Amino acid sequence: MRKRIVAGNWKMYKTVPEATELAAAIAAAAPKDGAGEIVVCPPFTNLTAVAEAIKGSVVRLGAQNMHWEEKGAFTGEIAADMLKSAGCQYVILGHSERRQYFGETDAMVNKKIKRALTAGLNPIVCVGETLDQRKAGITESVVGDQVRGCFADIGAEQAKTLVIAYEPVWAIGTGVTATSEQAQEVHHFIRALLAELYSESVAQTVRIQYGGSMKPDNAAQLLAQPDIDGGLIGGASLDAKSFLQIVTA
Ligand code: 13P
Repeated sequence: MRKRIVAGNWKMYKTVPEATELAAAIAAAAPKDGAGEIVVCPPFTNLTAVAEAIKGSVVRLGAQNMHWEEKGAFTGEIAADMLKSAGCQYVILGHSERRQYFGETDAMVNKKIKRALTAGLNPIVCVGETLDQRKAGITESVVGDQVRGCFADIGAEQAKTLVIAYEPVWAIGTGVTATSEQAQEVHHFIRALLAELYSESVAQTVRIQYGGSMKPDNAAQLLAQPDIDGGLIGGASLDAKSFLQIVTA
């Protein structure tokens, strides 16, 4: 049985005081039954304050990006060890906004995954097709290439620890959610691909989140699908009440 995982991607929102308040509100009200994992991923500047605000709660900390090198002269970049020492357990890698606006490729994401694993961070690896790609009927080949590229040379035991977030680009921040059937179809495809690339055991272990306009009113239906193991939430994670409603769903 895969443990559910709901993560909030705060993107480029929240100052330090705002982030502290939001994190404290989530930590105070988060269900303590341990049935699923709850992760918040604030901007880098808020990691330390949020780590403090969620201390002693069930909520875990994640970052939104990192560099693949261990350290060095890379102005403006953040290393895996820095995230780890700030209290992060998770790191989102290859988000479509990173791919779209900052030129991230599967090869770069693959290097980041390897570095994150070396540093003891759990990557949340994002994949997903654009609207044009979906209309052209190439969703599976696009997502398949992303999974193959991101997972290149990652061994089976390490692959098992990865979380994949399927985020159709056309559903991100648009208010248009994939139907639960559309999402399940791609999640099932990804799981079948993992079985082909690795084994049935890896496929059944890897958790696959859905992301893209997941809200309190559509979360339960999406999360009821057999291959949807959680959510990666953008807009609705910026409000403690709506984020926790999704966690409860
Ligand atoms: P929204 O929930 O705002 O659509 O964002 C989804 C997302 O990109 C999470 O990483």
